[in-house]
Amino acid sequence: MNVTIKISGHILFPSLDSQYDLSGYVDLVRRLKADGYGVYLVVGGGEPARYYIKTARRYGADESTCDQIGITVACLNAKLMAAALGDIACPFIPTNFDDLDRAIATGKVVILGGLQPGQSTNAVAGVLAERSRSDLLVNTTTVDGVYTNDPRKDPSARRFSEITTEELAKVLDNAGTKAGEYALLDPVALKIIKRSKITTKIIDGRDPMNVLSAIRGDAIGTTIVP
Ligand SMILES: Nc1ncnc2c1ncn2[C@@H]1O[C@H](COP(=O)(O)OP(=O)(O)OP(=O)(O)O)[C@@H](O)[C@H]1O
Ligand SMILES: [Mg+2]
Repeated sequence: MNVTIKISGHILFPSLDSQYDLSGYVDLVRRLKADGYGVYLVVGGGEPARYYIKTARRYGADESTCDQIGITVACLNAKLMAAALGDIACPFIPTNFDDLDRAIATGKVVILGGLQPGQSTNAVAGVLAERSRSDLLVNTTTVDGVYTNDPRKDPSARRFSEITTEELAKVLDNAGTKAGEYALLDPVALKIIKRSKITTKIIDGRDPMNVLSAIRGDAIGTTIVP
């Protein structure tokens, strides 16, 4: 079984720091590999990407330049994860699809950051799930699923245990489309999940072991029905 995991940048890189703790996800990935899973990772940009994007925007950079800066930081985060995983990881971070195919051919854990402007790293996760023929896409974030509204802003928001891509597009209608401000799944991610019928789970990734529960099929987070 192949699984693609989007690791929330906000979980691994919540601020600018010299003490990032990648060990929980390193243990998780080692365990999945030992159990015979094909593991494909996307690492988000987190707060470091947002700092860089905000500074670029303050100097008048256009949105695609801001996106590109965010992509570069996400690739750096991915490189850090590759270094932490050591020899089970593909040592290079693909930034185009020929390199991605070469990375998949290594049979190692493939790690992506960003790919191209106009989309979030969740869309990258959709593409990676497609390309790696993953049976499941696990999308980790800092909340425990999809809510009727942003739960950080609306305490009365209710969580969905299941939602279709159409319903989710409506829920996220007002969500951001600017660099660094894409909330949860952007339209590109939704389109890919739908066209390739990729079962996707949005879960709280602050405890990496929640990913194991999601893979085992436990009732956790929100399942997106493609
Ligand atoms: N309807 C919704 N349901 C759940 N969360 C939502 C919703 N709308 C907006 N959000 C927000 O989306 C946030 C998660 O997306 P965000 O891009 O900020 O983080 P991430 O994807 O975990 O990190 P990164 O983008 O760095 O990888 C949550 O913290 C939540 O506040
Ligand atoms: Mg995000």
